[in-house]
Amino acid sequence: MRSYPRRVNFESGDVEFRLMGAADEAATLKFAKALAVHDMLFLPRNISEQKVLLAWIKEIERGSIVSLLAVKDDAVVGCGAIVRDPMSWSAHVGEIRTVIASHVRGTGIGRALSNEAFDLALSMGLERLTVQMTSDQTRAIAIFEALGFRVEALLRDQVKDLQGKTHDIVVLGVNVSEVQKLEPNGSSSAID
Ligand SMILES: CC(C)(COP(=O)(O)OP(=O)(O)OC[C@H]1O[C@@H](n2cnc3c(N)ncnc32)[C@H](O)[C@@H]1OP(=O)(O)O)[C@@H](O)C(=O)NCCC(=O)NCCS
Repeated sequence: MRSYPRRVNFESGDVEFRLMGAADEAATLKFAKALAVHDMLFLPRNISEQKVLLAWIKEIERGSIVSLLAVKDDAVVGCGAIVRDPMSWSAHVGEIRTVIASHVRGTGIGRALSNEAFDLALSMGLERLTVQMTSDQTRAIAIFEALGFRVEALLRDQVKDLQGKTHDIVVLGVNVSEVQKLEPNGSSSAID
């Protein structure tokens, strides 16, 4: 598996990518609470609720989720995850999830963290990767298409927001053997 932490240089300053653990509960909850609900609709649960976050940390400890945090100036500004179900018929498959704080979007962190999660998933030996998002997340779709993912499904009216409005979910997938690994945007280096 890839080693962490890694420091990535952006025009707006350095960001550290590191593995998330139980000690990150408070900082991650603060990050999640500041996210717009619409930006969490691609997730199965509302991560701005503490009990959901605690369950997520439990899954990290069990090994079914590997989570990366993007940390800038001591604050969590992004989160990436690779979710697997090792006991299922899809143990060879990982789902990548990426979400970035709205105040740092457009600075390259989202693409770099998505690329990092992709590299991490490859280093874990996963054979197939999926991502899903609401169909209006065009930047997210473009980021993953650049990594070789292709749209495989559109799930109409699959999620409902707090106002009861439904949204479509798009699912992209890639078989790892079919893609040439692309270099991440930012220059990233492991630091011990
Ligand atoms: C998708 C997401 C992670 C991207 O984060 P980000 O930090 O804004 O991403 P980047 O800054 O790396 O930008 C990615 C691309 O979008 C473009 N972009 C960013 N902000 C933009 C804006 N306001 N208008 C138009 N394009 C924009 C960038 O130019 C970049 O393209 P480029 O690398 O070709 O220049 C972020 O929008 C997000 O958290 N969305 C909600 C959660 C979600 O749906 N995640 C996907 C599920 S996996």
